[in-house]
Amino acid sequence: MFDTELFEKHLATSWMGRSFYFFEELPSTNSYAKKIKDSGSLHGAVVLTDHQTGGRGQYDRKWHASAGENLTFSLIFEPQKAERFSLLTLACALSITEVINEMCGISAVLKWPNDILHDGKKLSGILTETLFLGNHLERVVVGIGLNVYQTEFEDDLSGQASSLKLEADADCLREELLAKILQRIEYRYRLWNQYSIELVKQINKALIGFGKWRSLQVNGEKLEEKYKFLGVNEAGELMALNKDLDLKTFSYEHVRVV
Ligand code: BTN
Repeated sequence: MFDTELFEKHLATSWMGRSFYFFEELPSTNSYAKKIKDSGSLHGAVVLTDHQTGGRGQYDRKWHASAGENLTFSLIFEPQKAERFSLLTLACALSITEVINEMCGISAVLKWPNDILHDGKKLSGILTETLFLGNHLERVVVGIGLNVYQTEFEDDLSGQASSLKLEADADCLREELLAKILQRIEYRYRLWNQYSIELVKQINKALIGFGKWRSLQVNGEKLEEKYKFLGVNEAGELMALNKDLDLKTFSYEHVRVV
């Protein structure tokens, strides 16, 4: 069982995760984080469950995680402006990548749009959702699934899923991992909020395939010509050059680098 007291002992943030909603079981932390009502601000609140029974992934897929073995949690942000969500998602993904590499001694990488891979296998995925009241952005929910101790993935027919336990020699404590991840995300949120170009550079440095000629899949269809993948710009769009060196930008949701 996730030990909330141990987590609090490790937590060294000033606002991220200071409001912590823990559930032994929940259908989806993202769904819950979108529903919570609070008279005050929920900025920085974290919802975590030890057993997520109806986890949701990108492209309407399901996210399966065995009970008590992984980290399935959602972060709530209340930014001033309704923009650059993809950059915020990548900032979170980069923070997770760094922390697992430091703590578990591996070399995981960031794959556009927001997967974390090790040796080509997926360790973590992120689903970012927004909640609007009319035109007003109420909150951004960044839902994170990180495979920690799980060693068997029943629904993973293509053998793409893995966990820290399988990829790293050392055992990484979930409570400590989460506390460190939140601390790194708190730092990166500040950069994101300040429109820092440094953040964009940090993300691009970590993206696999940066500067390489790659195939792109747009809205599910693979494009015929190859593109030089130039990472992300300050608006969070994917940038790529075609053979004639025309710069193309693609919005985040619609493109995959294959
Ligand atoms: C992906 O498809 O790669 C994204 C997976 C995101 C899963 C996480 S687990 C916590 C949060 N709650 C959900 O229902 N989904 C996200």
